[in-house]
Amino acid sequence: MLKRIAVFVSGGGSNMQAVMDKIDSGDINGKIVLVLSSSPKAYAITRAENAGIPVCVLPKDLAQREEVTLAKLEEYNVDCCILAGYLGIVSSAVIQKYENKIINIHPSLIPSFCGKGYYGHYVHEAVLAYGAKVSGCTTHFVAEGIDTGAVIMQHAVPVMQDDTPETLAARILVQEHIIMPETVRLFCSDKLKVEGRTVKILE
Ligand code: GRF
Repeated sequence: MLKRIAVFVSGGGSNMQAVMDKIDSGDINGKIVLVLSSSPKAYAITRAENAGIPVCVLPKDLAQREEVTLAKLEEYNVDCCILAGYLGIVSSAVIQKYENKIINIHPSLIPSFCGKGYYGHYVHEAVLAYGAKVSGCTTHFVAEGIDTGAVIMQHAVPVMQDDTPETLAARILVQEHIIMPETVRLFCSDKLKVEGRTVKILE
């Protein structure tokens, strides 16, 4: 049975595209049935429309956003959600209803350089300012708080001496496009087992 996937986006949607491509190549036992965007201008919306996937632009008001999100996830009979470059907050009610069924990708090696204020270029600026020698990306289940859920996959990249936030972000994005689809593939094949803070990969 194909898992029914909802994707939450805010920007370019390259992570969503990476998942779409792996679905198209038959690697993922899932189907993207809905895209929810926090911004009407997100290029991710164009990607979804080109693929014939229904799009919902979420309200700015948090209470209305929660109400619309829950209604849409119900309406489309969604099994799991992925946050692909999503900059909004997922409300407790959604997290509780979809416990260990919401996957986020963060462009650092959690628990470093994550949490409130660490998103987009701010992450890479902090890594460079600290003088870290390694960074990377993490997929994790979404729990209460920001970037706090159980870690699923991580890929590391070297920080080069002449890196800028942009060059580091680009190196990490390549790895995001590997671990995001792989995480979704494992989830859709029921190969992820959460044991407390640990996620076991049954493969
Ligand atoms: C990426 O740079 C990534 O670090 C983070 O969100 C940004 C935009 O991703 N996950 P996308 O191209 O919208 O998927």
